Amino acid sequence: MSSPSNPVTRRELLRSAGLSATGSALALAAVPHVHVSQDDTIRLALIGCGGRGTGAVGDAFSVEGPPVKLVAMADIFPDRLNGSYDGLKRSFGDRVDVPEDRRFLGYDAYARAMDCLKPGDVAIMATPPAFRWVHFRYAIAKRLNVFMEKPVTVDGPSSKRMFALGEESVAKGLKVGVGLMCRHCVARKALFEQIRAGAMGDLVLLRGYRMHDQIGYFASAPKPADMSEMLYQTQRFHSFLWSGGGAYSDFYIHHIDECCWMKDAWPVQAHALGGRHYRGDSVDQNFDAYSVEYTFADGTKLYLEGRCMRGCQNAFASYAHGTKGLAIISENGHAPARSRIFKGHLKDPTAVAWAYGQREPSPYQLEWADLLDAIRNNKPYNEVKRGVEASLVTVMGRMAAHTGQTVTYEQALNHDHDMAPDLDKLNADSPAPLQAGPDGKYPVPEPGRKGMREY
Ligand SMILES: NC(=O)c1ccc[n+]([C@@H]2O[C@H](COP(=O)([O-])OP(=O)(O)OC[C@H]3O[C@@H](n4cnc5c(N)ncnc54)[C@H](O)[C@@H]3O)[C@@H](O)[C@H]2O)c1
Repeated sequence: MSSPSNPVTRRELLRSAGLSATGSALALAAVPHVHVSQDDTIRLALIGCGGRGTGAVGDAFSVEGPPVKLVAMADIFPDRLNGSYDGLKRSFGDRVDVPEDRRFLGYDAYARAMDCLKPGDVAIMATPPAFRWVHFRYAIAKRLNVFMEKPVTVDGPSSKRMFALGEESVAKGLKVGVGLMCRHCVARKALFEQIRAGAMGDLVLLRGYRMHDQIGYFASAPKPADMSEMLYQTQRFHSFLWSGGGAYSDFYIHHIDECCWMKDAWPVQAHALGGRHYRGDSVDQNFDAYSVEYTFADGTKLYLEGRCMRGCQNAFASYAHGTKGLAIISENGHAPARSRIFKGHLKDPTAVAWAYGQREPSPYQLEWADLLDAIRNNKPYNEVKRGVEASLVTVMGRMAAHTGQTVTYEQALNHDHDMAPDLDKLNADSPAPLQAGPDGKYPVPEPGRKGMREY
């Protein structure tokens, strides 16, 4: 489908896609930004067939308009791929067109799945975030549009790589969505407009809370003997900083991002506390509790309180305080946000100054509606820079807690701790980026003892 305003033939596009790496960015900047395929169908390849990736395919299918089909799948574990395929096939029938020869396994499966697509189709990246830059680089080379889950980086070096790849994808006119779905929420958008219009006065404080039991791969029992280190650390990505950014980057990014959105800025430094308490035989690298004080350039603070601990009070909410009162950015989960503003700083139901108050469509579906609309109507659409910035702000807070030092945005970005160098060359049998000690335990952060290194 070519845009009426920017007609381009399929032959022209394929010829331009074959340009050399050095010549491509400049030359392709002149190529019209269009979704091209022989018909209107947008084909998807799912890379990382776990909970979120499978959900993302359903969200893509929820969008009305010309057909969307899943045509290829990739994972490193057969049970994950098969379970995802069976569930999607049961729910969506013919829209899932993935015969066995388009289901790929292994650390190189991503490339074979993307090879099934044509320029302008969409690669869904829902693996642990460590692999984002490896997979995104390949998608850019193949001129694919992308939906990638958050976080998109885990440390300074991977952030630099993704910033550069993001710029390259913009230059090529690729449409890229990043799974910070709250940014697509209608209630939060309306609150943002209220704040910009001065409904709360100046923002003076933001607070984010995510506190619950241990979930996902937060804690990990020692590696089973019949599994390689690489597979084990990849699978249990919330446990290991190189593969998932740990619980801090993975769990807390949404609250950090929505608070920074309302402030319309990223913090310049972080100062933090955290600790490990009840760990049993768990060998993960996480702290149970994090309390991070972020500071914006104008001195305003954002406090992020995160905890994974059974038996304690739960919380899942973000708030903004302005000189005129308090706003609930979101409460009780990501959606519905039920955003509202109170006169004063108490959640007093008799003093509501503004409330969104309407039905809130799922932001997981809205982010797909926005991405597919951009692809079909050739609108500029690229969320990578913002996704990297949000990811880097998680790295800054996590690093501050893990080192016990104040960490600036620039220090986080320019830090030389490359947690998984050469990830593009590793496979299931490679030595893992993190090695256990003789006691079978992996290095954990020790604030005050390891200088500016997290481990
Ligand atoms: N936006 C949200 O609200 C939200 C919610 C949940 C998860 N996520 C994000 O989605 C991503 C996946 O999380 P999940 O909960 O689906 O985890 P998951 O473990 O259920 O799924 C991850 C899948 O990726 C596969 N995988 C790992 N490395 C791979 C590789 N190199 N190549 C191919 N496949 C690989 C795993 O085997 C697994 O099937 C994470 O980045 C997570 O933060 C986002």
